[in-house]
Amino acid sequence: MAIREIVRHTDSFIRKKSKPVKVFDEKLWELLDDMWETMEERAGAGLSAVQVGVLKRAFIININNMRIEFINPTILHTSGKQYKKEGCLSVTDLPFGYVERPKKVTISAYDRYGNMFNLTCEDWTAVCVCHENDHLDGILYIDKLCTPPKGMEEDD
Ligand code: NI
Repeated sequence: MAIREIVRHTDSFIRKKSKPVKVFDEKLWELLDDMWETMEERAGAGLSAVQVGVLKRAFIININNMRIEFINPTILHTSGKQYKKEGCLSVTDLPFGYVERPKKVTISAYDRYGNMFNLTCEDWTAVCVCHENDHLDGILYIDKLCTPPKGMEEDD
């Protein structure tokens, strides 16, 4: 495993659209292993392949020690709204900021062996899934900053 360099938001590469993973082989596993090591070194909650310079539709999240890998994800259903302050390992010189996200998300994806799974998540996990999924299309949280409606701000 190796720690990889994180692509900064000022680099136009971060805006590129990632491509579907076609082969679930050792090369993909090595990428995912390196992503875990890179993310954990920086104490992040999520990391997408594009952030380590690889345009593959893959991301990882670690919320309360629930560690999940998502390959070729598709968001199937969303409901509700929430407003939490987000940050990003690619955005280190700008403040965290509020983004509107669905409260609950159902996502379909593949694991590293090519097995499909569905996951329904809410709260922080839903935020994280949406944030990382956006990276696969070159979208950053700083594109979506908003002022939450009164009483809807969450600062946890
Ligand atoms: Ni990010």
